Amino acid sequence: MKKIVVLGSINIDTILNIDRLPLPGETMAMHDRSIAGGGKGANQAIAAVRAGSETSFIAKIGKDHAADFMMDTFKKDGLNIDNVTMDNEAGTGKAYILLDEHGQNSILIYGGANQTITADDIDEAASTISEADCLIAQFEVPVPAITKAFKIAKDNNVLTILNPAPAKKDIPVELLKLTDIIAPNETEAEAITDVKVVDLDSMRQAADKMHDMGVGIVLITVGSKGSFYSLEDRSIGFVDAFKVKAIDTTAAGDTFIGYLASQLHKELDNIEGAMRFANKASSITVQEKGAQNSIPYHNQVKF
Ligand code: RIB
Ligand code: NA
Repeated sequence: MKKIVVLGSINIDTILNIDRLPLPGETMAMHDRSIAGGGKGANQAIAAVRAGSETSFIAKIGKDHAADFMMDTFKKDGLNIDNVTMDNEAGTGKAYILLDEHGQNSILIYGGANQTITADDIDEAASTISEADCLIAQFEVPVPAITKAFKIAKDNNVLTILNPAPAKKDIPVELLKLTDIIAPNETEAEAITDVKVVDLDSMRQAADKMHDMGVGIVLITVGSKGSFYSLEDRSIGFVDAFKVKAIDTTAAGDTFIGYLASQLHKELDNIEGAMRFANKASSITVQEKGAQNSIPYHNQVKF
């Protein structure tokens, strides 16, 4: 069984169902509102464990009811939470998700405990990282902690996957050099490279810039279209998405990352197949409301 470590965020998501985004100064009624478990880190860890990998999660929660709820979810899924620690002051992270009638979302996040993870916390989890096959991180936790974790990973031959979400400009070169696989969406790829990603040509341009910054493999996810790859030798390809009716795209990208990491061979010789499988898994996630509750189990991902 593959061993995966995810360093990342835990959020309680408040989902607000609306027709469309409100205009400045407009007051608008919503159809529905609900609460669900989320956070890019937690979603990706849950995707990895449901994909069948032995998964450990490095994260911080607050001292509140939200934390109890989330820890229960993690336990039910069989996630290793030995490295999920508590911050006594900051509350558990929160996300406010505006979900329109096409299943498209806009998300506001309050970092809370997620923002208190330090490089020292990562030292405490060093043995978990060094014993893994693969380490995954996103940008809902501080960059110094991610950089520390990636250093430990690379010193121990552990594959590193960076999902640079939410979008961030000026990612330290030090971190990119420690990144084996970077997996942004179009917006995130543009933030990193200043290349507007609209077609295969611009994807290749953006990927080349990321390779030049020191990244091994570049994967760009393009929502309902599919995902693009550019390998170390700069050969490229595109894997089409499965056509489904989207109800809620929240956590689709996270499902892709968790499943991809679980499917990839150590030799990285099955990128296309792993992406296809990950696309299939995220096509299931978008057909249900909510983040974690919509992430499929391995036996549901059928072709
Ligand atoms: O990627 C989706 C996630 O982003 C949501 O669950 C929300 O918590 C935000 O972090
Ligand atoms: Na969903």
